[in-house]
Amino acid sequence: MEFLIKLITFLLFLMPSITSSQYIRNNIFNNRKIFAKQETISSYAVVFDAGSTGSRIHIYLFDQNLDLLHIGKAVEFFNKTTPGLSAYENNPEQAAKSLIPLLEQAERVVPKDLHRKTPVRLGATAGLRLLNGDASEKILQAVRNMLSNRSTFNVQPDAVSIIDGTQEGSYLWVTVNYLLGNLGKKYTKTVGVMDLGGGSVQMAYAVSKKTAKNAPKVADGDDPYIRKIVLKGKPYDLYVHSYLHFGREASRAEILKVTHNSPNPCILAGFDGTYTYSGEEFKATAPASGANFKECKKIIRKALKLNYPCPYQNCTFGGIWNGGRGSGQKHLFASSSFYYLPEDAGLIDANIPNFQIRPVDLEIEAKKACALNFEDAKSTYPLLEKRNIVSYVCMDFIYQYVLLVDGFGLDPLQEITSGKEIEYENAVVEAAWPLGNAVEAISSLPKFERMMYFV
Ligand SMILES: *[C@@H]1O[C@H](CO)[C@@H](O)[C@H](O)[C@H]1NC(C)=O
Ligand SMILES: *[C@@H]1O[C@H](CO)[C@@H](O)[C@H](O)[C@H]1NC(C)=O
Ligand SMILES: *[C@@H]1O[C@H](CO)[C@@H](O)[C@H](O)[C@H]1NC(C)=O
Repeated sequence: MEFLIKLITFLLFLMPSITSSQYIRNNIFNNRKIFAKQETISSYAVVFDAGSTGSRIHIYLFDQNLDLLHIGKAVEFFNKTTPGLSAYENNPEQAAKSLIPLLEQAERVVPKDLHRKTPVRLGATAGLRLLNGDASEKILQAVRNMLSNRSTFNVQPDAVSIIDGTQEGSYLWVTVNYLLGNLGKKYTKTVGVMDLGGGSVQMAYAVSKKTAKNAPKVADGDDPYIRKIVLKGKPYDLYVHSYLHFGREASRAEILKVTHNSPNPCILAGFDGTYTYSGEEFKATAPASGANFKECKKIIRKALKLNYPCPYQNCTFGGIWNGGRGSGQKHLFASSSFYYLPEDAGLIDANIPNFQIRPVDLEIEAKKACALNFEDAKSTYPLLEKRNIVSYVCMDFIYQYVLLVDGFGLDPLQEITSGKEIEYENAVVEAAWPLGNAVEAISSLPKFERMMYFV
């Protein structure tokens, strides 16, 4: 009762000063303690993506529910620098130094008083994996030293590491389903992901408990087919596989290997050259009659090892289990070169973050491309010409078609979403592994619930 009287007195005291509902809103937001608390519980995460062509920085800001907040107009801060860490093979200190401009930008974007609470991570992908001997470990150690000596961020002992293909696939799955708001839902409501990188291609999707339990065992030292991961309190069984040698650049080498030094029917008429991949050279010459859609398809099917014995009930290619193809794969998001090839070929506008495409659309474009000679293809595909890869346009399109349909077993008419970004809160966020990695980093902070962890 006493409290009520005090409250009424207080309200009466306030009354004359309240002139509009707008004022009340402002007043509440300026004075309520709870707002200040929300502000302090939000947290930044800094993730370096050390790729083969360059190093990129992503800075995210999470609120207490682990939803993303805006940093300026965008939902992430992004910048990059070239070349990548692997360009400094013999100079680890210099490799580490190349990250300093990006680190300084992070120190400006994240408010000073939050630096010590902000996790920073670096994941090195393909480029560093390929370096000889202990060169990559030396570079990573130099980066670790640089980060712990120089930065005021929270650097955990495992913060700097090489991210392998299956980790890349798992984090990408988290990123995509996070941005689509699927985390915490039943596995059948999640979206599977495919990522066509330069060296490898990844497939990841959630499967039923039963499928996970009956998953084939792999040889010691190989990556298991199933990863267990808890997200927003819900456990998921994630089928994930990374196919080394079957990324966009690596696959060309595999396809040229099939024909050795003879002409290859995937090469456009009038082209006679060599293809270099990972320090190895492959002859790339067109047959006199030019590229041939049907013949090229046969060669690519061979390169994919579709006839390789399957020790399990069902395989994709090369004797790899297909994961059972359950509902977690009904909707697929395809990233990296699954997006860039149609973009570079001018099939879609580069400003579109993602689009719908069917494998058959790739086949239709392949047939058009294979009929061109090298000179005509240059004017048909100026962006591919600029990148010096127009001679492989027929090969690249058939490869993606064969990979999806004969390899992964998709229906040629199935609509998939190809994208580089996903819309989120009036902005777009890159559909790649760093966000998934940031979610994991942030959930390990004591003030948050463990939103994400591997079991
Ligand atoms: C990105 O990095 C470059 C080079 O370090 C710098 O000039 C530029 O201002 C950075 N962009 C932002 C948005 O900070
Ligand atoms: C950074 O720290 C490491 C180990 O603590 C040390 O070996 C290295 O010399 C330091 N580097 C600089 C530039 O201070
Ligand atoms: C496995 O392969 C058989 C025959 O090739 C097919 O009928 C069946 O649907 C496949 N099952 C799965 C789960 O892919």
